[in-house]
Amino acid sequence: AQVGRILFLPGDGIGAEVMTEVRRVIGWLARRGIEFAVEEDLVGGAAYDVHGVPLTDATMAKANEIGTVMFGAVGGPKYDDLPFALKPERGLLRLRKEMDLFANLRPAIVFPALAGASSLKPELVEGLDVMILRELTGGVYFGEPRGITELADGQKRAVDTQVYTTSEIERVARVGFELARKRRNKVHSVEKANVMHTGVLWRQTVQALRDRDYPDVELEHMYADNCAMQLVRRPKQFDVIVTDNLFGDLLSDCAAMLTGSLGMLPSASLGAADANGRRKAMYEPVHGSAPDIAGQGIANPIACLMSFAMLLRYSFDLGAEADRLEKAISNVLDQGYRTADIAQDGCTRVSTSGMGDAILKELDRLAA
Ligand code: NAD
Ligand code: IPM
Ligand code: MN
Repeated sequence: AQVGRILFLPGDGIGAEVMTEVRRVIGWLARRGIEFAVEEDLVGGAAYDVHGVPLTDATMAKANEIGTVMFGAVGGPKYDDLPFALKPERGLLRLRKEMDLFANLRPAIVFPALAGASSLKPELVEGLDVMILRELTGGVYFGEPRGITELADGQKRAVDTQVYTTSEIERVARVGFELARKRRNKVHSVEKANVMHTGVLWRQTVQALRDRDYPDVELEHMYADNCAMQLVRRPKQFDVIVTDNLFGDLLSDCAAMLTGSLGMLPSASLGAADANGRRKAMYEPVHGSAPDIAGQGIANPIACLMSFAMLLRYSFDLGAEADRLEKAISNVLDQGYRTADIAQDGCTRVSTSGMGDAILKELDRLAA
C-alpha cells in the first residue's frame, strides 16, 4: 500500500551519492509492500546551475505541499564566491525557515563495532547515546539586521544579530523535555548566559518551562564552551542537549566525531504538529557535500540512511521498519564492512554502493 509522499532533494557532491542508497532502500521497502511516492527536485548548486537560484519558488511550494523532505547536502567550492542570496546553503536555510522546522534532532549514537573508530578512547564512547536538539529557525542564522555596509572612512562593517523570543525558546525546549521523558530523563540546556542576553532569556525560559510543566525531568544549565569541553571529556554524562542554532551546529559536528565520523550522524528537522498530529519535516545527514571526496563513490551513506530511518519513524509511524534498518546498519558494521572514513584494521573496505549492498543483503536476512 502507498504510505505517503516524499520530496527528494539530493543536492550537490556526496549529497547526491548517499541519496542513491536511500533510493535503493525505498525500492526494497516497495518490494515488501511499503510504497512511497517519491518526487525529486533540485536544490543548492544543482538548482543554481539550472535555474540561477539555489531553490526555486516552485520547489519551495512543493516542499510545503508534500510536507516530508529527504535532503542530501549542498555546497561546493564552485559556488563559494556567489553573492550571499545565491549561495547553495541559502536553499537549505530557506527550506528550514519556510517550512518552520524549528526542532532539529541530531542523535549521536556509538554503534558497538565503532567504539574503536572514535578519536576518543573506546571506554569513553562505548554505549554513547546523546540527543543534540538544535533550534533551527532562529538565532544568529536569521536575526535582523544583518549584512555588510561601507563606512565613510572606506572600512566595511559586518553585522549578524542573535535574537530569540520566549516562544521560540519555549517550543524547542518543550520538544527537549518530551524527548528526555522517553530517554534517560535528563536535559542540559546550553547557552552563554554569562555574556549574551539571548543566553539569559534562554536559561530563564527553559527553567520556567521545566518548573511549570516538566518537574519530573532533571535540568542542568551549562555554558556552551564548557559543553564543548565536556563532550570530549565525558560525553556519557549527557542525555538530551537543547541549544540554539549556532551552538547546536558546532556541538553536533563535535559530537559526530564521538561516533567515529561525520558520515555517521543523521538528523530530523521537525515543525509543529497540526490539528491532525501531522508535522512537516526534513531529514538530512549532518555532513555537507564533502568536495574533497565527491565523485569518488567512497562517501559513507550511513548518516543519510539513518536520517531515512528517522523519516520512517517520525513522519510515517513506521517504527518497526526504522528499527530494522538501524539494526541492519549495526549488523553490517559488526560484520566488518567499512567505508574509508570509519576504516579500521582488518575491516572489509567498501565503497558507498558496497555499503548499500551489504545493508540491503542484511535487510533481506532480517526480513526472512
Ligand atoms: P563536510 O561535512 O562536507 O565535510 C567535512 C569533512 O568530513 C570532509 O573531510 C569530508 O570528506 C568528511 N565527510 C563528510 N561527510 C562524509 C561522509 N558521508 N563520508 C565520508 N566522509 C565524510 O563539511 P565542509 O567541508 O566544511 O563543507 C563542504 C560544503 O558543504 C560547504 O559548501 C558547506 O557549506 C556545505 N555543507 C552543507 C551541509 C548541508 O547541506 N547540510 C552541511 C555542512 C556543510
Ligand atoms: C548544517 C550545515 C548548515 C548549517 C549550513 C550548510 C547552512 O552546516 O546543517 O549543519 O550551518 O546549519
Ligand atoms: Mn553544520
